[in-house]
Amino acid sequence: LSTSPAMAAAIKKVTVIGGGLMGSGIAQVAAQTGHHVTIVEINEEAIKKAKNGIESSLQRVAKKLYKDKPGEGETFVKETLSRLSTSLDLKEAVKNTDLVVEAIVENLDLKHKLFLSIDSVAPEHTIFASNTSSLSIQDIASVTKRKDRFGGLHFFNPVPVMKLLEVIRIPETSDETYEKITAWGKALGKTTITCKDTPGFVVNRLLVPLLAEAVRMLERGDATARDIDTAMKLGAGHPMGPLELADYVGNDTTKFILDGWHQKYPNVELFKPVPLLNKLVEEGKLGLKSGEGFYKYD
Ligand code: CAA
Ligand code: NAD
Repeated sequence: LSTSPAMAAAIKKVTVIGGGLMGSGIAQVAAQTGHHVTIVEINEEAIKKAKNGIESSLQRVAKKLYKDKPGEGETFVKETLSRLSTSLDLKEAVKNTDLVVEAIVENLDLKHKLFLSIDSVAPEHTIFASNTSSLSIQDIASVTKRKDRFGGLHFFNPVPVMKLLEVIRIPETSDETYEKITAWGKALGKTTITCKDTPGFVVNRLLVPLLAEAVRMLERGDATARDIDTAMKLGAGHPMGPLELADYVGNDTTKFILDGWHQKYPNVELFKPVPLLNKLVEEGKLGLKSGEGFYKYD
């Protein structure tokens, strides 16, 4: 890779659109690894939230990396933050960038609107990528005229900790684009895998049905939530049990993913709606972020 033309024009400037849970993590890791990053958000409040989240996560990273050298840790945080900027002006923020990573809400219409509005403004060479969890990259890319410079970059929560990056190619993705985004993922310190544009790519195609099956098991009364989670942690070595993980990911997110796949593939048994999951979402028990899901949080 190092001698390929793609590397000669490596990705240096990045625009992350959406500074929520995922976007702020992606922006943080990119800035940590020397890239110049602009986060685009929709209002000042969201920008403030993203900045605060990044700063506290960076402190945790610094504490780990510079355990016995707090001075160097401080410099690391300061330098990383100096490479990060924020903007409310989407078009301005993509005028001079090598890569756009979209991490806005999981809604195809909104993603279409977004990519359509920047396709004619971003420079010719700029690559577009989506961090979607469950939508088809090809569907998202369909509104642009740069499908050869389009791919999926699927990160995992929490981005500063999870080591994997799924790189998704659509048939139109050029080799140069694929090489550039893969090299960028490696420059971020991630281990990359390559996936086709299939529902959930690799991780979510396996993980979401696992979470749904765990909820179905609880629903049937086969075991308690605690016992299901203990079983998978101690019997299968998972860092979190499936119900803890459902609370961590967000029950609304899991429901949304399942609903979308069920609509598209009504015959796949594993994608069928799960009444208990739907009930929790209806009651606002979304998991960690709402204070209650399968468990209660302070
Ligand atoms: N920023 C920086 N560092 C963080 C962090 C963050 N947001 N969150 C955790 N950490 C660090 C902690 O500081 C800690 O560092 P040390 O080892 O130096 O102490 C380390 O990570 C471990 O954290 P904790 O001690 O707080 O807790 P833990 O050991 O239980 O680990 C976890 C937490 C990393 C989240 C772990 O439980 C885990 O791996 N859980 C599974 C997460 C998972 O499966 N994520 C994928 C979800 S699916 C997805 O993202 C895709 C999708 O499309 C929905
Ligand atoms: P989030 O709700 O935390 O963040 C979304 C952010 O996008 C919000 O801050 C919102 O203000 C902003 N936004 C919405 N429309 C915008 C626009 N037009 N321009 C700029 N900003 C806009 O959501 P999230 O969990 O970070 O998820 C973002 C994307 O990442 C989704 O596609 C999701 O499927 C995917 N994803 C989520 C996870 C996860 O575990 N939460 C994991 C991997 C991928």
